[in-house]
Amino acid sequence: MNGRKVTLKFMVLLVCLLTLVGCKNAAEERDKAVAEAEKAKAELAKVKAIIEEIRSERDELKETLDTISENWEKASSELVVFTQAHDDLLVQVKELTKERDSAIVQAKDAKAQVERLGKQLKEKTEELRAYEEWVKELQATIKGLEGQVEKVDNQWTEQSAEEVSEQSDDTREPDVHFVPTPQVVVDKMLELAKIKKTDLVYDLGCGDGRIVVTAAKRYGCKAIGYDIDPQRVKESLENVRKNAVGHLVRIEQKDIFTLDLSKANVITLYLLPGLNVELIPQLEKLKPGSRIVSHDFGMEGISPDKAVKITSNEDDDEHEIYLWTSPLKKIPD
Ligand SMILES: C[S@@+](CC[C@H](N)C(=O)[O-])C[C@H]1O[C@@H](n2cnc3c(N)ncnc32)[C@H](O)[C@@H]1O
Repeated sequence: MNGRKVTLKFMVLLVCLLTLVGCKNAAEERDKAVAEAEKAKAELAKVKAIIEEIRSERDELKETLDTISENWEKASSELVVFTQAHDDLLVQVKELTKERDSAIVQAKDAKAQVERLGKQLKEKTEELRAYEEWVKELQATIKGLEGQVEKVDNQWTEQSAEEVSEQSDDTREPDVHFVPTPQVVVDKMLELAKIKKTDLVYDLGCGDGRIVVTAAKRYGCKAIGYDIDPQRVKESLENVRKNAVGHLVRIEQKDIFTLDLSKANVITLYLLPGLNVELIPQLEKLKPGSRIVSHDFGMEGISPDKAVKITSNEDDDEHEIYLWTSPLKKIPD
């Protein structure tokens, strides 16, 4: 019995010992677990801090990303605009290049034209210079010839003046005194007579020579002025000289009643009615178709082809002009 007790005791002791040892180990385990838990907590805190940091970084990154996205969108839309503008510019550049090329072609053509025209201008200038030289030479020739003409005219005039004094022996008093026909009436008389360049005009009683000078100047025909008064002849010669028609006009001092009128085509008169009638026998010797024009006075017994009236502002008077054509038409008695 004792043995059993001892064994039991021993066994209880062993169990207690073992429990004790077990308890000691559990405490150690617990301490170890607490320490590890502490360590884990510290680790967790660290991780949380890291997480926080990462979150903040992520938020920052998100913000940056948003900004960049926004900028990117803006840039994208700008890119669209720029791309469009770029494309438009490309089209414009193409058009401009085309225009420039055609302008180059035109410029080349224009240059060629300018060169050609320049050449022509040079040639024309030279031609013109040659013509100008020629004109100068011709002007000098004309001047010389005019000088000669004037000399001849003067000689002729002087000769005529000499003739006048030579002829002056058989002078007598004029049948009618000198009264000049107004220029407008002279013009009308010549117009009515339908003067041609080939006509020969006689003015019977020529006064200062205005009718013959006008006929020669206006129609280029030949004309002779006759007057019995030496003073009128001198005035007529001076008029001829002044108007440079000495090559067409002659002035002679003669009594008109002594003249042969058969060579004349046109007779002009400013005399008196009775003197016109006295001239009829001479006028009847005119060639057929010859014209007679008389200022203010008719011809009794002879029917005129025309009688016109004209007012001159030189004297404000009305003047009548008569026209007859050879052969004369006698009015039956
Ligand atoms: C009225 S004036 C005309 C002048 C000019 N025929 C005219 O119409 O202007 C007449 C002219 O006839 C001239 N005369 C007069 N009787 C003449 C005659 N028998 N022979 C030549 N002339 C004469 C005069 O000297 C005068 O100059």
